[in-house]
Amino acid sequence: EKAGFDHFMLKEIFEQPEAYSKTMRARLDSSGTEVTLSEIGVGPEELRQIDRVHIIGCGTAYHAGVVGKKLIERIAGYPVELDIASEYRYRAPIVTRTTLVIVVSQSGETADTLAAMREARARGARVLAITNVIGSSIAREADDVLLTCAGPEIAVASTKAYTTQVIAFALLAIHMGQAVNRLEKCERMAWIDALLKLPKQAEQILQQANSFKQMAEQLATHPNLFFIGRGIDYAAVLEGSLKLKEISYIHSEALAAGELKHGTLALVEDGFPIVALLTQGDVAEKTISNMKEVKARGAYVFAIASENIPPLDHVADQCTFIPATADLLSPALSVIPLQLIAYYASLARGNDVDKPRNLAKSVTVE
Ligand code: M6R
Repeated sequence: EKAGFDHFMLKEIFEQPEAYSKTMRARLDSSGTEVTLSEIGVGPEELRQIDRVHIIGCGTAYHAGVVGKKLIERIAGYPVELDIASEYRYRAPIVTRTTLVIVVSQSGETADTLAAMREARARGARVLAITNVIGSSIAREADDVLLTCAGPEIAVASTKAYTTQVIAFALLAIHMGQAVNRLEKCERMAWIDALLKLPKQAEQILQQANSFKQMAEQLATHPNLFFIGRGIDYAAVLEGSLKLKEISYIHSEALAAGELKHGTLALVEDGFPIVALLTQGDVAEKTISNMKEVKARGAYVFAIASENIPPLDHVADQCTFIPATADLLSPALSVIPLQLIAYYASLARGNDVDKPRNLAKSVTVE
C-alpha cells in the first residue's frame, strides 16, 4: 500500500506531480486558454454581486489560504480576509449575502472549520468548500464544492493536500477573474501556461531529494531554527516550519525576512541554522541583505532559491536551486524541498514519521 516507499508521507510527497495534473485536468479547456469549473454553481452573475471574500481553514489548509488570498486579490481583484477557523466566530466577522466564504479542509471533517462555516452560512454568506473528500461533512454542507484531486492522504503531515489546494485556489482565482472580466486573455494564458508546467517542474525537484536529505540531516542535530522569506516565500515557509515541527519535533519559526531586525534577530548566535527561501527576483536583494545580517551574527544559512535568482555563494553556506514559475504559484514548488527536509529530519531523529506524537489526521473536536 506504500507502493515501495518507506512511509506514506514520502509516497504522498512523490505523488504530487500526478495530483497536480489530476486537479487541473478537465478544468482547463483543451486549448489551455480558459478555466471551466463546471462543478461549482456560483456563476458570473453571482460573482459580480460578491464584494468580499473570506478564507477559513486550520493548520496547513490555513497556509494554503495565505496563498489563496494573494491569488484572488491579484487575479480577480476581490478584497480577501483570511482567518484561522477557530478564531473566526469569536471576532464577529462582518458577513453579508454578498460575502463569499471559502473554507479549506483536506478531510472535510475538521470541527473548527465546520463550526466557522456554519456561522458564516447562518449570517447569510455563500460558502464554497475546497476539500479533498467528496461526501465529507464540509462538502455536504457547503453551497459549492471544488475538489482537490490529491487522492487519499494517510500521513498525518499534510503534503499533496496543500499543494493541490494552492492549485485549486489558482483555478478559482482565474475563474473569478474571467467572470468579472478583470483578466486579459494574454494574462490568463500566462497563468494557465505556468500551471500546466508545474507537474514536470515538481518532478525535477523530487529528483533532487538527496540534496534536501543532506540539509535535513545537518538540521536534525539542532534544537531550533528559523525559516525566512518575503511575500509569497513567507507564505511557503509558514507551511515548511509547521511541517518540520509536526514530525521532527525541532522547534522552528517562520519569519517574514524583514521582521528579523524587529526582535527575533536577538536569538541568532554562532551556528544558528537559518533556511532562506528566495523565489522572487523583485525582493531577492532585500532578503539577501537580511541573510547578510544573520551571517554577520554567526548564523549558518541554507538557501533554497529559484533559478532566476543570481548566485548566492557570498551570503549562503549552502544553496540549492529549484525551477522558477509564476510568482504566486511558487509555493506549489518551493514547499516540496521543505516537505522533504521535514521528512528526512524526522527520519534522522528516529521519529514515527507518519504518526507524530499527540496529533491526529482528522481533528473532530474544537
Ligand atoms: O483536514 P483539514 O485540512 O481540515 O485539516 C486541517 C489541519 O488539521 C491539518 O492541515 C494539519 O495542520 C496537518 N496535520 C498539518 O500537516
